[in-house]
Amino acid sequence: VARVQAIASITKCMDTIPSEYIRSENEQPASTTLHGVLLQVPVIDIDDKNVVKLISDASKEWGIFQVINHGIPDEVIANLQKVGKEFFEVVPQEEKEVIAKTPGSQNIEGYGTSLQKELEGKRGWVDYLFHKIWPPSSIDYHFWPKNPPSYREANEEYANRLQKVADKLLECLSLGLGLEGGEIKAAIGGDDLIYLMKINYYPPCPRPDLALGVVAHTDMSAITILVPNEVQGLQVFNNDHWYDVKYIPNALVVHIGDQIEILSNGKYKSVLHRTTVNKELTRMSWPVFLEPPSELENGPIPKLINEENPPKYKTKKYKDYVYCKLNKLPQ
Ligand code: SIN
Ligand code: FE2
Repeated sequence: VARVQAIASITKCMDTIPSEYIRSENEQPASTTLHGVLLQVPVIDIDDKNVVKLISDASKEWGIFQVINHGIPDEVIANLQKVGKEFFEVVPQEEKEVIAKTPGSQNIEGYGTSLQKELEGKRGWVDYLFHKIWPPSSIDYHFWPKNPPSYREANEEYANRLQKVADKLLECLSLGLGLEGGEIKAAIGGDDLIYLMKINYYPPCPRPDLALGVVAHTDMSAITILVPNEVQGLQVFNNDHWYDVKYIPNALVVHIGDQIEILSNGKYKSVLHRTTVNKELTRMSWPVFLEPPSELENGPIPKLINEENPPKYKTKKYKDYVYCKLNKLPQ
């Protein structure tokens, strides 16, 4: 398998990229990004006394916001980033391939590169690593890098801290819909909610004007909580335009995913987003997808449904939702 990291080391001294990485004109970042900031993704202090309203407004209008004062120490985030960067940049390629995703397997976990070409035969400029980090019973350590040796400790520490933030966010989202604080978390699996870590590795790209890291999509998860590195690249779609999400050191970027849009019956919006790449610098990001267990049925919460608000979404098992989305079948 040709990794994008290997392609990038060849194209480094060139000013072209292989044609499968050149996006169609209506997707190219150079021609579709709105520069000069008109609107900005909300930045929310989790200790603000109006945090419920701030989070629910942001989730209705944007489907994305950044959280500051979240309580995860800077050092815990820095360690997570350090060990992830070392896996991609220091560990020998043969060792990375040992934990490669098994082609054709249903399990998404492992090191990989998008193999399946997208609809128009285009590819994203990105390699990745997926593995679950919570709950402990869901973890398969085979997919966790053995090197650097502190990889495991750094990820476990982050997973422990992240749960408190996630619980608080889910509570705010629940209260924002007029529900009890614990209702959303219970609806998406309670303590069985799965935390799936992804590391995105976007090597330098000689034509960042023509390529994309990750193509425009909404997340299938309930919510996604992401740590970026300092290289700008995340963009979100709002009001007919693509906006850059400003990098704020140590902030967490929270995406509303499809499952929360569904259970809120469309009150909260899952955000359409994509990533751009950089000419000289490597961008990385660490999204954690909070997902219901695969057998859990998710649909609009009954309390939110009445004659004026009929259900806008079907209730279905999470695994069936995923299957339809990945195979581009109607939901
Ligand atoms: C993604 O949406 O999968 C990636 C987001 C990012 O890299 O910031
Ligand atoms: Fe995403």
